[in-house]
Amino acid sequence: AMIGKGEHRHFMLKEIFEQPEVVSNALNTMLNPADRTITLPKLPFDLASIKRVRIIACGTSYYAGSVAKYWIEKLARLPVEVDIASEFRYRCPPMEADGLAIMISQSGETADTLAALRYCREHGQRTLSLVNVPESTIARESEGVLQTMAGPEIGVASTKAFTTQLTVLACLAIGMGRATGALSADQEADICRSLSEIPARIAEVLRHDDEIRIIAQGIAEARDVLYLGRGTSYPIALEGALKLKEISYIHAEAYAAGELKHGPIALIDDSVPVIVICPTDELYEKTASNVQEVVARGGRVVFFSDAEGIRRVSTKLFSSMALPCVDPVVAPILYAIPVQLLAYHVAVAKGTDVDQPRNLAKSVTVE
Ligand code: G6P
Repeated sequence: AMIGKGEHRHFMLKEIFEQPEVVSNALNTMLNPADRTITLPKLPFDLASIKRVRIIACGTSYYAGSVAKYWIEKLARLPVEVDIASEFRYRCPPMEADGLAIMISQSGETADTLAALRYCREHGQRTLSLVNVPESTIARESEGVLQTMAGPEIGVASTKAFTTQLTVLACLAIGMGRATGALSADQEADICRSLSEIPARIAEVLRHDDEIRIIAQGIAEARDVLYLGRGTSYPIALEGALKLKEISYIHAEAYAAGELKHGPIALIDDSVPVIVICPTDELYEKTASNVQEVVARGGRVVFFSDAEGIRRVSTKLFSSMALPCVDPVVAPILYAIPVQLLAYHVAVAKGTDVDQPRNLAKSVTVE
């Protein structure tokens, strides 16, 4: 069937606004709201036998995998490595037994990710893929398949595929935590409650679209933009910088906030907007002190946090936006939304071709 943009000006905006619904669809595949448990689909191997995890992907899917590393390490207490597929495949890494390789791919056709999957199979790993296209090559060649349920994604810059990947990966991390015994039933119930509320929280953030559009006006003229975050907010910063580069052609870079003093702080002056992803989690104070360092050097900080987090910042922010306060475990799913909208509105302000950015392809099936 023909897919239209509906009332929206671009596919990207339509897909951003579909996120409450598609994240809910992704949750419905695994979350039982009544007893607040996760039921993973039947897999052709026993998760309890897995001793280590390797996540392999490209682009936005790689950043979803980077968030999942924090989740699986925290909730399942298994060691996780994340690899860019094009690096992994030529490194010929040694792989021990009892390893699970997770491939993440919206299209399920990315050449480097497919080659990495084949390598992992040949080297005795159990394989699980997370795809948005169930009839894709990567899905067909993997032992286990999880689906993101985002529906067709037309905009070249990935949005709803990313948040549904995160949603499914959070459920997978919970399921693995239960399998390894690292996660108690009470902890599972708590995170499940927070997850089940995420679609409504995303809808709340989307109602602040106008606020983000105004923030975007102050960024459209910048030559360089920095993104900072710690913990799971670090991959969200990376994804935010990628979105901005992809569709607005502004040079953007993300740093783990703790790395600021090891180089990027030299770039800061009043011409560089610094986007900070900072939910009130156990790392909040550390990121907030990095914000002070940026402000002291004249940097224009755009601060994404919750009302409490914004109140606690004592220096002068250039702008800020208060997101709903959520369980820090699920925060990266929510904080993905403002960085998508920010990139979108900057691109619209610059007049670029949002849905078909220059030089980019939706799916890269050649090397
Ligand atoms: C291309 C797309 C990106 C995407 C990446 C990986 O570069 O433009 O949006 O994140 O491929 O694609 P995949 O389908 O494997 O997730």
